[in-house]
Amino acid sequence: MLTIALLCGSQPAIAQQTDPLAPTGTWSANVDGAAITPPMGWNSWNAFFTDLDEEKVLASAQVIVDTGLAAKGYRYINLDEGWWQHRRDDGRMLANTDRFPSTRTPDGATSFRPFTDRLHGMGLKAGLYSDLGRNTCAQAYMPDQTNLPRGTLTQREVGLYGHIDQDISQFFGEWGFDYIKIDGCGLRAYGPESERVVSGRYRALDPILNLETVALSDIPAVRGLFGEVKTALMRYNPDNDFVLSLCIWGSAHVRAWAKDIGNVSRTSDDITPHWGRMLTNFDTAVTRELYAHPGSWNDPDMLFIGKGDFDADHLTEARSHFTLWAFLNAPLLIGSDLRNTPQPLMDIFGNSALIALNQDPGGHQAVLAYDTDDLQILVKTLADGDKAVAILNRSSAPVEATLTAAHMKLRDDAAIATTDLWNGEGASFTGEMKVTVAPRETRAWRVRGNRALEDGMYLSELPGQVNPAVDGLTVPQVDPTIHRAASFGTRGSGARPFYTGWGGARADSTPYGRVLQVAGQHFASGIGVLANSRLEARNEGHRRFTASVGVDDSAEDADNEVTFALYGDGRLLTRSEPLSRGMPAQSLEADITGVTLLELVARTRDAANGRLPVTWGDAALMQR
Ligand code: GLA
Repeated sequence: MLTIALLCGSQPAIAQQTDPLAPTGTWSANVDGAAITPPMGWNSWNAFFTDLDEEKVLASAQVIVDTGLAAKGYRYINLDEGWWQHRRDDGRMLANTDRFPSTRTPDGATSFRPFTDRLHGMGLKAGLYSDLGRNTCAQAYMPDQTNLPRGTLTQREVGLYGHIDQDISQFFGEWGFDYIKIDGCGLRAYGPESERVVSGRYRALDPILNLETVALSDIPAVRGLFGEVKTALMRYNPDNDFVLSLCIWGSAHVRAWAKDIGNVSRTSDDITPHWGRMLTNFDTAVTRELYAHPGSWNDPDMLFIGKGDFDADHLTEARSHFTLWAFLNAPLLIGSDLRNTPQPLMDIFGNSALIALNQDPGGHQAVLAYDTDDLQILVKTLADGDKAVAILNRSSAPVEATLTAAHMKLRDDAAIATTDLWNGEGASFTGEMKVTVAPRETRAWRVRGNRALEDGMYLSELPGQVNPAVDGLTVPQVDPTIHRAASFGTRGSGARPFYTGWGGARADSTPYGRVLQVAGQHFASGIGVLANSRLEARNEGHRRFTASVGVDDSAEDADNEVTFALYGDGRLLTRSEPLSRGMPAQSLEADITGVTLLELVARTRDAANGRLPVTWGDAALMQR
């Protein structure tokens, strides 16, 4: 979309597009950078917080190589906060030479080049961390840490603010890093009234990010700053070998727009090694299946396997955590001190079958096929036509689950072959299979069967190919379904809903989590989205589009009329009559031979409350 190109700053300035629903004929989600599959590697934070040094980092990197994890795809060795000394008065960032001795240079300018050369020589990639504001998270929230930047007030301003181009040039062009994670604490925690500013320790920066209340974030300003970073990354990485990781914890409604700029984007606040908190982070990503694509992934935060509820005494939980991250197409970033990680946990990181799912070239995040507070079934489409299924028991009691062929959109009259993703056992069933799922366990299989839709694919099976370019949501709304864990203590009034994203486009669900239904007709497959939306869908060789469209029965409004239009490479292919709630679903069909990009536009004149769910029932790409 043109407005996005404008804001992300990587394109020449062009006039603002007046009609965001007009077809563009182009895929607008980000494809720049080196994240065609989710990044894998290691990050220092969960293991060491700011207490990191060169020896610790290189030792973990060596273990990754020696144990074969590198060969399995774990490539990025990422320094989180704690690598810096301070910013020199001419603006240059200096590395902490005490902690990273190889960064010493005779002129005192410091260089991470020997460090990144060393990692590159090991066949690995190097990442580092910064903040979009002047100051950082640890400076704001961990003032007692020993390893914070030292020096004058301005020397301690180690964040990118006012230095974006200079720092990106230094980190990538000069120092040879390949990956950057960018935090937003500097945009959030340094208001003029904050104690850290009043005390004179840090300079004020008017907050433009607010984690709790989306209306208090300046979304265009935050997005504009990330756009500047992206422009600089493109400038200093002409080979496209970079990863941009946005870390603003689901604030500023980032889940709707990060996909247009960056490679990975945090959907929630920090993970902690607690079962409840892991569920919170999982929930912030699991309903965002249409917002993740090759090149830009949902990031529910790094793995916390190795501590607390995910240590070697809790292998069930640790395996669940890993399985869920694999199914979400989350970055797989190990967060434990690999110098002393017990073998059973190393085996979890090394589960090749789950890594293969996460790295599957199809790039389809799993879709919820069954959803309750206790038990969820996730189904992920794989590039070779197989499916992967996970059954998560969130509760503390065992559950007898029934997995049906319908959950996987497979025929119930032919054998379905299953391979257990944890023990490799093969089996088969027809129709349905009963499984016991222990408390906090996630059972997972790769499955092969006969497709219920023989001659095509439902769009909801291909979320990596569907991009809600405009999702119809005019006012970001908090999602009431995300688990609210007590992991940050019980002072105050509890964890109230504050992650936005409620009302976004969904696979096999309305934007508000209801089943898809038009005039009493239930659709087990389809895309649910709000009116005044434009979905982009890649077509790779299919020849016919079919769908049954209408206003969903869950719409509050019975009067508004919606017209559904299908475009192929920017050209109108077919359009529905104006439809309102209660009118039967209308069949839409078009020849899409040779078309590479479809656009599904649902337009209404007046959806003033922004809550008019519409349904592209059974939307599918067919061979004939
Ligand atoms: C934030 C991020 C964490 C980590 C710390 C570093 O809290 O969310 O992942 O990077 O900052 O201070």
